[in-house]
Amino acid sequence: MLLRGTPTRTIEASPDGRTVCVLDQRLLPHRVEPLRLSDLADAVWAIKDMAVRGAPLIGVTAAYGLALAAQADASTEALRTAATRLAGARPTAVNLAWAVRRALEALLPLPPAQRPEAAWALATTMADEDAAVCESIGRQGVEVLHALARRKPGRTLNVLTHCNAGWLATVDWGTALAPVYRAQADGLPLHVWVDETRPRNQGASLTAFELAEQGVAHTVIADNAGGHLMQHGQVDAVIVGCDRVTAHGDVANKIGTYLKALAARDNGVPFYVAMPTSTLDPHLTDGLTQIPIETRDAREVTHLRGRTGDGSLVEVQLVPDGTAAANPAFDVTPARLVTAFITEHGVVPASAQALGGLGQAVTR
Ligand code: MRU
Repeated sequence: MLLRGTPTRTIEASPDGRTVCVLDQRLLPHRVEPLRLSDLADAVWAIKDMAVRGAPLIGVTAAYGLALAAQADASTEALRTAATRLAGARPTAVNLAWAVRRALEALLPLPPAQRPEAAWALATTMADEDAAVCESIGRQGVEVLHALARRKPGRTLNVLTHCNAGWLATVDWGTALAPVYRAQADGLPLHVWVDETRPRNQGASLTAFELAEQGVAHTVIADNAGGHLMQHGQVDAVIVGCDRVTAHGDVANKIGTYLKALAARDNGVPFYVAMPTSTLDPHLTDGLTQIPIETRDAREVTHLRGRTGDGSLVEVQLVPDGTAAANPAFDVTPARLVTAFITEHGVVPASAQALGGLGQAVTR
């Protein structure tokens, strides 16, 4: 997608194939700064500290992380240790473990001397695949948007999204925002309500940033405003991304997604989940009890980061000194609240039967 008018991917191998270049998402939207990952520790840190984030992007970053590890030591023991560190960097998004497992299964049968080159090639293939999958999600999802638009001819379609499931969360295109970008290209009058997404504000800082870069009309709202807008007919559809989906269609996504799904159901607003099949975890049957939910530092709740009038980036405290805070980073939306999944293979209902067909394509 466009960054300052130039088609850009969120992650690229450097031309010499020895380091990896990402955008430092902790600084967006205020600063656009590339970040170079030179070794395994850099890759683990970038995922943990959320310099890169979003389920598909952390998966691809982990694949490159394994390539960086193989460059330093391609022994079986070293790669297994690297895989454990990468897969453990964040627990909820299954793409991370999926990518690491896929890379390990491809590399370990090879003689160690061949592993570094093979690891780079595989990471690049996985990046290309992610871009292609997201582009396909866009093609499938735009049909949903066109169908909704036909119900209100000549009027703007209003889509609400939560967190950032756009280009910045993937290699290119995004998941939830890919249909939006397609619709924009088709000339569909469209506007996006962007949940700010406390506590880290991925909506306010990242989704708003990338929608502006692509010229898509949008408005940032406080997380609590969505239900009110739905009650007043100002939301035609909700589209969110996902971090892990069970065989039965329960969806782990950014904290607050569940409340949006409840409000959507109460107001007859369709609730779509954009899902690459790499986010399906076909071994899980009950999202509430089986999906591990990441707990992050309470400081993300008690403090806010932003830019001051003179351009410096600062952090300020919101709460009284010593206040306790809790920070569950994801929640689970039960399948019964999901209208359908928009996947790279088509739009499918939230049922074990429909997802089972997709699950057969997922190697775990
Ligand atoms: O904590 P984050 O920013 O990594 O959370 C991201 C999300 O919850 C996204 O909605 C999800 O990963 C889907 S990304 C296409």
